[in-house]
Amino acid sequence: MSEIKTIQSIVFSPTGTTRQIVDRVSKSIGVEAVDTIDLTLPKSRDEWTGEVTGDLLLVGVPTYYDTIPSITLNYLSKLQGKGKWALPITVYGNVSPGACLQELCGLLKFRGFRLLAAANFVAENSFASKDLPLAIGRPDDKDLYIAYNFGKMVREKINSNLVEAEVDVADLMIGQNYTRKIEEYPENNVINLARVEFNESNCIRCFSCVEVCPIGAIDSESLTINDGLCFRCFACTRVCPSEALKPVIVKDIVDYFQTLLDKRQEPSLYI
Ligand SMILES: Cc1cc2nc3c(=O)[nH]c(=O)nc-3n(C[C@H](O)[C@H](O)[C@H](O)COP(=O)(O)O)c2cc1C
Repeated sequence: MSEIKTIQSIVFSPTGTTRQIVDRVSKSIGVEAVDTIDLTLPKSRDEWTGEVTGDLLLVGVPTYYDTIPSITLNYLSKLQGKGKWALPITVYGNVSPGACLQELCGLLKFRGFRLLAAANFVAENSFASKDLPLAIGRPDDKDLYIAYNFGKMVREKINSNLVEAEVDVADLMIGQNYTRKIEEYPENNVINLARVEFNESNCIRCFSCVEVCPIGAIDSESLTINDGLCFRCFACTRVCPSEALKPVIVKDIVDYFQTLLDKRQEPSLYI
């Protein structure tokens, strides 16, 4: 598959795990990488023209309520595949992979890409905390080793010049309507199962939370959170050094997540 001379990544990753896995895979493919398109923060998201310069596009998103984060859809719909190769990677927090990978595959096919391979990884749940250590510390060494080997397999596939090289999407798509259009996805997949609590007396006004918020929901003066904008990605609670910001999760979800603490899910690779 000599047409793949460069690779590029496009990612959305509020708490950084998707980016970490995509970077690991990208690095081990060992083909020249061009600048990553990062959809996480508003500025870089909105500055992106839709142009993709790499021959192979790694597309990484976390799973939000079993599907693609709705905030990314307008941006992913700018992609023009025109027969280029793509490698979708989804990451979920050890609860349920849902249909996120299938839907991302479908979306990329719909945008005109061919699928070279696909993978679903597991990482620390965005809702995790000291009291609820769901998949805490993941991706761990084992996950990163799997990501590394996956990259190597992709590299072999690129070098093998296989004619029928596209990953068998049909296998991934069982029962899924993978041709649904952008406008058919849920408009906003925020569900009020969780929220961020601000305790001003702990705040040291470092403004890290303002910097990492993917939606600009934190006022840069008062540091109050616009609850209507916030989609509970918990990027802010992760970076807060003084426990001024804390995740508050409804009890039913905490109870359910507790039952999953010892049930380690593993990555799934399709190549
Ligand atoms: C709003 C929201 C919804 C989520 N839904 C799911 C889910 O359906 N299944 C799951 O296993 N994890 C779910 N997670 C956890 C994330 O998929 C997981 O933590 C992922 O590693 C976050 O990626 P990031 O570090 O790139 O932001 C959800 C997280 C958030 C913030």
